[in-house]
Amino acid sequence: MIVTAEAPGKIILCGEHAVVYGRPAIAVPVSQVSAQVTIEENTTELLIHARDLNRLDRYSDLDPSHPLGAIIRLTLSALGDAAPPNATLTIDSTIPIASGLGSGTAVSTAIVRALAKYFGRNFDAPTVSSLVYEVEKIHHGTPSGIDNTVIAFGQPVFFIRNQSIETFSVPLPFRLIIADTGIHSPTKIAVGDVRKAWEADHVKYEALFDRCGEIARAARSLIESGLPDQLGPLLTDNHRLLREMGVSSPELDTLVGAALNAEALGAKLSGGGRGGNMIALIANESEAQVRGALLNAGAKRVLATVISSQ
Ligand code: PMV
Repeated sequence: MIVTAEAPGKIILCGEHAVVYGRPAIAVPVSQVSAQVTIEENTTELLIHARDLNRLDRYSDLDPSHPLGAIIRLTLSALGDAAPPNATLTIDSTIPIASGLGSGTAVSTAIVRALAKYFGRNFDAPTVSSLVYEVEKIHHGTPSGIDNTVIAFGQPVFFIRNQSIETFSVPLPFRLIIADTGIHSPTKIAVGDVRKAWEADHVKYEALFDRCGEIARAARSLIESGLPDQLGPLLTDNHRLLREMGVSSPELDTLVGAALNAEALGAKLSGGGRGGNMIALIANESEAQVRGALLNAGAKRVLATVISSQ
């Protein structure tokens, strides 16, 4: 027997960091990149083949806190304490690692789906999301849950931590360019630093978070009204707020400036910050210009994506 499953990458459109403190944020799937998992019966035991990392591990050898071991264990338990199958689980991914595109989350999601399929089951999106969230905690400490949600639902989501998850429609698709600084920056550290700064100055940080929340609400309303080309100033304003929170970096600011100079409609860092990715909203005709400007300004990788209801 052989089964396959996949999961897309993701990007945060607006509201990162503030989302950890109960404000809404918007995340969207990026289907140009994805993680795929294949499970094929073998005659030995459960083996995990991470093709990109050139690793082959026995499931039985993995530490319980290892993210791959943990998601398999949680999924087998959700399948009614199923025994590990005699099979080889192969992971392939085109999502760049540790750059805010949700690579680890997408791999976990594809594993849950593939294992469920292998056992003849099909978990709904909330179930997949909550299993993956358990593993997110190992990577991130206090994740808001937005990454596992957007990837499991595969739809744009308007997310309020511990309160509501709403998918919403995009009547007029819009284009984003995603540019990578090439700097790997663990989200956990940026999130921890924001917490320390918030503890030291509640008033300032609560006001910054409030403004990010207002941006997320206004952005959703523009997208749902078919006016995504008006999102630009909101995104750029969100970048300014993230700078004030202390999670930008000279490289991110340079890329944001380069995109705006090349007539992007708006630009901001996306995700944890300090490195990783930035996004720029573009009109169709300015794609080549913005892409060129970002590469000239030092972007290590540039990806164009169209955001639509799937
Ligand atoms: O770095 P990413 O893309 O995984 O995004 C993290 C988003 C934060 O709001 C900074 C943290 C969180 O858990 O929501």
